[in-house]
Amino acid sequence: MAKKTDRWLQLRKSVEINDGLEVRKAQVWTEDKLWWWNKYIDITTAALVGRNKWPHDLVYVDLFAGPGILEFESGERIPGSPLLAMRAAKPFTKVLLCEKNHSRALACKKRAQSLATTQSIRVFEGDCNEQIGLICNSIPANALTLAFIDPTGLHASFETLATLTENRSVDLLILFADFMDIIRNVATYAQQSQSNLDQVLGPDCDWRSEWHSLADHSAAKVSRLFVQLYQNQLREHLGYEHFGDEVLYLDRGVPLYRILFASRNPLGLKFWNESTKKQRGSDRLF
Ligand SMILES: C[S@@+](CC[C@H](N)C(=O)[O-])C[C@H]1O[C@@H](n2cnc3c(N)ncnc32)[C@H](O)[C@@H]1O
Repeated sequence: MAKKTDRWLQLRKSVEINDGLEVRKAQVWTEDKLWWWNKYIDITTAALVGRNKWPHDLVYVDLFAGPGILEFESGERIPGSPLLAMRAAKPFTKVLLCEKNHSRALACKKRAQSLATTQSIRVFEGDCNEQIGLICNSIPANALTLAFIDPTGLHASFETLATLTENRSVDLLILFADFMDIIRNVATYAQQSQSNLDQVLGPDCDWRSEWHSLADHSAAKVSRLFVQLYQNQLREHLGYEHFGDEVLYLDRGVPLYRILFASRNPLGLKFWNESTKKQRGSDRLF
């Protein structure tokens, strides 16, 4: 567990009173993910918002937003990614959120309204793969966008990322469900002509033959193969060049998923590395 800072404790405090709205269940590893994401938001907004070197808008996009608050079994609550963005010390120009589930989207909207911030916040209800065009219409030209893509499985299609990042500066933080999904289901996906894995990996990716020809089908090797294939796709089709170290989350010794950071700008990676540096090294087991 990452060491928690005063800022994180403040953010936790801001959601400790039960507002009666829907929450999502939190697991111990969820807090590390959000802690890192918040640190990245803090570092990036501090460096860019209101600075001459970045005179343009800074926009936050969250394609799998959730209701805004998570709750542990103990009843303790932590802010979800949308609230972290809305409470950034240096505010984003716009916060654009998408959530498919009606009651979660509603909870997120109500929480946004109760914050009464001056920034523009919009919640898009629906499948982000269908809403992406509308979301993109709300991103001002020249903005730098930080996009958090936090599904529970293989739900964000490559085409959605292509639309989001076309002719825009977008830094991506993606939950890559290798251990949670790919490793468990790859044999099934290999037999389907248009599987979820095909949707996520995108065009011209011959993952079936790469997977079949792997000499070692251990979880570590399969995971490494798919992470590399995904990064190649982001590089070749979308022009991403700078990739963050994959951070591995463990549940009682079981790997769960990776967080992938991708940017076209080396500065984005510098900010991400600063956010994760306390953990880097120790978690790089695969
Ligand atoms: C892992 S949770 C996201 C958690 C959130 N980042 C947070 O910090 O609380 C994934 C969320 O995405 C929603 N979801 C699932 N599929 C979706 C889709 N295709 N488009 C938009 N939202 C989706 C789920 O209802 C769920 O609330």
